[in-house]
Amino acid sequence: MMDWATLKATCSQCHNCSLCEGRHNVVFGVGDEHAEVMFIGEGPGEHEDLQGEPFVGAAGHLLDDMLEIIGLGRTQVYIANIVKCRPPNNRDPLNTEQDACIGYLRNQVALIQPKIIVCLGRIAAMRLIKPDFKITREHGQWTEKSGVQMMAIYHPSALLRDPGKRPEAFEDLKQLQRAIRAICTHTYEN
Ligand code: URA
Repeated sequence: MMDWATLKATCSQCHNCSLCEGRHNVVFGVGDEHAEVMFIGEGPGEHEDLQGEPFVGAAGHLLDDMLEIIGLGRTQVYIANIVKCRPPNNRDPLNTEQDACIGYLRNQVALIQPKIIVCLGRIAAMRLIKPDFKITREHGQWTEKSGVQMMAIYHPSALLRDPGKRPEAFEDLKQLQRAIRAICTHTYEN
């Protein structure tokens, strides 16, 4: 396991897969390195690639609103992605690309030791919860893995495409808030 400085430096030079060829920035992750709650998306889009920060485009603005609903801001949680370089035309990251990159996320999780991991959308849920995860059926359901409570909610991009899913997302967020209150010790004190 690498420490933060080594991990960031290694990741910024990464050539583990061909996504490095088109990137402007590696999008490592942002937030509290001692966060109790992590949010994991699938991979950077155009704005994230240009700015080097996750969730700063339209989906990111909605994620900020979703965090605000449960009384949180970006600085109280940690936000990262399954792959750290932008897939061309925002296609889903290939399994080979996820395999090449997932070690960085695992290292981030090992350093942070979160109590709760929230997967944003099906790609993150399939990788982190189970390969056959069905987001429409299984969003909002908790599973425990290695002492970490995990659940998936709809990806903010999905909520932008289909506002009809927003009431379900709202319920999931409220449930997440209850879990944070029950399990976490400093998230709402920061
Ligand atoms: N979508 C993601 O999954 N991650 C980002 O960082 C931005 C958009």
